[in-house]
Amino acid sequence: MSEIIMRLWRGDANGGSFQEYRVPAQEGEVVLDVVHRIQATQAGDLAVRWNCKAGKCGSCSAEVNGKPRLMCMTRMAELPLDQPITIAPMRTFPIMKDLVTDVRFNFEVAKRVPPFAPPPRQPDGTYRMFQEDIDRAQEFHKCIECFLCQDVCHVIRDHEENKARYAGPRFFVRFAELEMHPLDTNDRRLLLKERMGLGMCNITKCCTEVCPEEIHITDNAIIPLKERAVDATYDPLAFIIRKIARRKRPLPAEEAQASAIVTTPLSELADGHGDAKKAKAKA
Ligand code: SF4
Ligand code: SF4
Ligand code: FES
Repeated sequence: MSEIIMRLWRGDANGGSFQEYRVPAQEGEVVLDVVHRIQATQAGDLAVRWNCKAGKCGSCSAEVNGKPRLMCMTRMAELPLDQPITIAPMRTFPIMKDLVTDVRFNFEVAKRVPPFAPPPRQPDGTYRMFQEDIDRAQEFHKCIECFLCQDVCHVIRDHEENKARYAGPRFFVRFAELEMHPLDTNDRRLLLKERMGLGMCNITKCCTEVCPEEIHITDNAIIPLKERAVDATYDPLAFIIRKIARRKRPLPAEEAQASAIVTTPLSELADGHGDAKKAKAKA
């Protein structure tokens, strides 16, 4: 029987390193199976978080050969078993022990998302919605809160300082779920722009690539939210009136320069806000 070499990160908040374990290969296993075998036979004190072993609880997130993945959904057969397989904890979050990280950051962000706020019911006690509106938000309900998208997002992965002003892709999905709900009456657009760092996302799509639920995080959540945030801060009618008024009255050079700044209403949005630039270009 052939042997697999697994390199598991062992340590805690004070530091650690990869340790090598050799286990017999067995057919049909996922990474979590092998980690459990190591725990049962060679490393009884190995810390690993898991629950459902079915890709539904979002607990077993880790970095397998450097890529954020669910260990219970990663088949050993799809990995290059002629080389050591490395398993590391998610890098974006502080380490508690071995493969277990402290994901409290996410729960703190969750508390800051204004909740669903439905309007009063119809006189007959019901709500009315179009099926297509319900279908659109359905994709976002699939999120299992594995936080792999948060792990891969470069805005916070290597920049702890950004966490105070950035919600991250998982929560942009949550915002989209609420904002696109046909019955929701809360308006979270300014909050997204000013406190949740929506403008810091530059649509690299890394989060979409790692999502085990295949949610189109960037295309279906983040980009529509960016468009909505632009709508909240940009009044096209006022912009057109300013533009017409300026054309009618030729300005001296200095005034023209100042006016050019004033007529850039979205300039306060964070760098990389492509939608803001697009909206401006269209106008
Ligand atoms: S698309 Fe935005 S949210 Fe997703 S990983 Fe890139 S920067 Fe982060
Ligand atoms: S959006 Fe996808 S990657 Fe992000 S937490 Fe939800 S399921 Fe995980
Ligand atoms: S153990 Fe539940 S998602 Fe892996």
